Amino acid sequence: MKEGAHVSAVTGGEPLLALEHIRKSFPGAGKGDAAVKVLDGVTLQVGSGEFVAILGPSGSGKTTLFRLIGGLLQPDSGAIRLGGEDIAGQRGRIGYMPQQPSLLPWRNVLDNVLMAAEIAGISRKEAEPKAREWLVRAGLGGCESAYPHELSGGMQQRASFVRALLGPQQLLCLDEPFGALDAMTRLEMQLWLGSLWQESGRAVLLVTHSIDEALLLADRVYVLSAKPATVLEEVKVPWPHPRSEANMAEPQFVRLRQQLYDVLRKAKEVPQR
Ligand SMILES: Nc1ncnc2c1ncn2[C@@H]1O[C@H](COP(=O)(O)OP(=O)(O)OP(=O)(O)O)[C@@H](O)[C@H]1O
Ligand SMILES: [Mg+2]
Repeated sequence: MKEGAHVSAVTGGEPLLALEHIRKSFPGAGKGDAAVKVLDGVTLQVGSGEFVAILGPSGSGKTTLFRLIGGLLQPDSGAIRLGGEDIAGQRGRIGYMPQQPSLLPWRNVLDNVLMAAEIAGISRKEAEPKAREWLVRAGLGGCESAYPHELSGGMQQRASFVRALLGPQQLLCLDEPFGALDAMTRLEMQLWLGSLWQESGRAVLLVTHSIDEALLLADRVYVLSAKPATVLEEVKVPWPHPRSEANMAEPQFVRLRQQLYDVLRKAKEVPQR
């Protein structure tokens, strides 16, 4: 596959996640209002152990897509398959970090991050040492007993991130995980996520508004149009992992950034129906 070229699918074998022609509308807000068409036939794949990013204008339906993959919503039509199995409407099949951290206010940080393991039936005895280790690696050492309202937005995001990581699922869906972080912390967390993803062997599907974040981390990038969303572009990112800030200065990186920027600018120009 050529760098930056429009590519059509995961190379070889059954993808871990396959979305086929997903359509989703929501009822209009008022009585008699027309339905709002959000997703208009979205098809994408994530291979086993692959890192895939989704870029798209605000309101294009990225979170809706994640809620569909997570089984919180049902598609109007189309298929959602994980490892070849239809998982539409099934919860708990993927690790999910929602756009809003959604930590439980009555649980402290440690108990919040242990939730994913708890739901998966992993004993506290087994899960706790790992949870404590990951909290330290996420810069939250010493915050184990704090409650969510005592944390900054960025700290809540990191706790939510660790919670998603501690589940056993092979696919992690991360919805703008670093949106609330300052630029330096964000870069640190991006590089951390990159190395952790490599270590874990799991697949990641990442929603981001940052072209640089997508290029720094992902093997492939999908660009969605404005709503009703379709896939406008699929780009392969050529660099091997681990990547670093040094990659961002390469002429190839700059070219790809411009290519994605142009597609996104066009995506925003698509009139919203
Ligand atoms: N439960 C719902 N009922 C009605 N409309 C909804 C619902 N959820 C989402 N929408 C609409 O669907 C569209 C897509 O929303 P979504 O949150 O998926 O966008 P997004 O791409 O994640 O945006 P952002 O980048 O700002 O997070 C928006 O117009 C939103 O108002
Ligand atoms: Mg969103």
